Amino acid sequence: MDRIVIAAPAKINLTLDVLGKRPDGYHELETVMHQINLHDRITLEKGEKGIRLHCSREDIPADEGNLAYKAAALFFREFPCEEGITIWIEKNIPIGAGLAGGSTDAAAVLEGLNHLFDKPFSHQRLMQLAAIIGSDIPFCLMGHHILSEGKGDDPLQGATALARGRGEQLAALENCCLDYIVLVKPEFSISTAAVYGALQMEKVQQRPDNAAFIKEWISCDMINIAQGMVNVLETVSTEMHPEIIKIKTQLRELGACNAIMSGSGPSVFGLFRDRYTAERAARVMDKCYRETFLVSSYGRSDEYAGEKAVTRKP
Ligand code: C5P
Repeated sequence: MDRIVIAAPAKINLTLDVLGKRPDGYHELETVMHQINLHDRITLEKGEKGIRLHCSREDIPADEGNLAYKAAALFFREFPCEEGITIWIEKNIPIGAGLAGGSTDAAAVLEGLNHLFDKPFSHQRLMQLAAIIGSDIPFCLMGHHILSEGKGDDPLQGATALARGRGEQLAALENCCLDYIVLVKPEFSISTAAVYGALQMEKVQQRPDNAAFIKEWISCDMINIAQGMVNVLETVSTEMHPEIIKIKTQLRELGACNAIMSGSGPSVFGLFRDRYTAERAARVMDKCYRETFLVSSYGRSDEYAGEKAVTRKP
């Protein structure tokens, strides 16, 4: 096999708690992450020695500044060989958004290279390599995302996990499906490092109860799942950009059971109970926010699966 195509799904954080600051400067997290069917499409093709990267968006670096490039460089450092790789990224996930857009591309590159070069690394080793490049990348390696295996009987599978440590210690959760999620990315972006750097836990008013959340998750009770969603990083990001609060409020007024920010933001997502209300909310939000998406959990075969989920204007 010389060529492989992989879906790189975005993630949302259904809860995000910070337990404290670590000696290495990172923060100790407890967060429930969930893959959604808004995804980049990564194509890898074997070729001459070296790494060549092309992206459908010109404002994204095509060198070491791109996590996907870093992933390939790390792979070939650990697995030196005479061949190289060309990477094409079809970018659909908004960047600087709190959706792990860069991390998921890096995970897809690691997974794809491991397949193309006949699995030199175990899944566990791949997870370790992923954690070297970024905290979110091991989670992005969960699930099944290879589009071009040609077996036809290996369904695409999304993942949900409770992540601890920097975000790299993962406990898989059953994959309860969220059918109607409206996701809004405002025009501005936020630096993850800046948000964590400005976090003062004494200012946090509400923290998620992850144990209770997981119970609701397992019983697939959508209303209680929505009510349990809390992200402590909102304390910082909403102070930097009050517009995030406006989007949360708008989504709730439009019928979301609850709406919170994903990761360090600025993306906000709302969970809806029914198709009609979700579609109407997405239409209203789309008038103000070009990057509005109507999505569901990754791997669903309903009408919000894959690229059809995207309501973005061309
Ligand atoms: O690991 P990653 O490069 O994705 O993290 C980006 C930045 O976010 C880190 O440099 C750090 O400032 C912050 N971070 C943190 N604690 C975490 C994850 C990220 O402080 N658990």
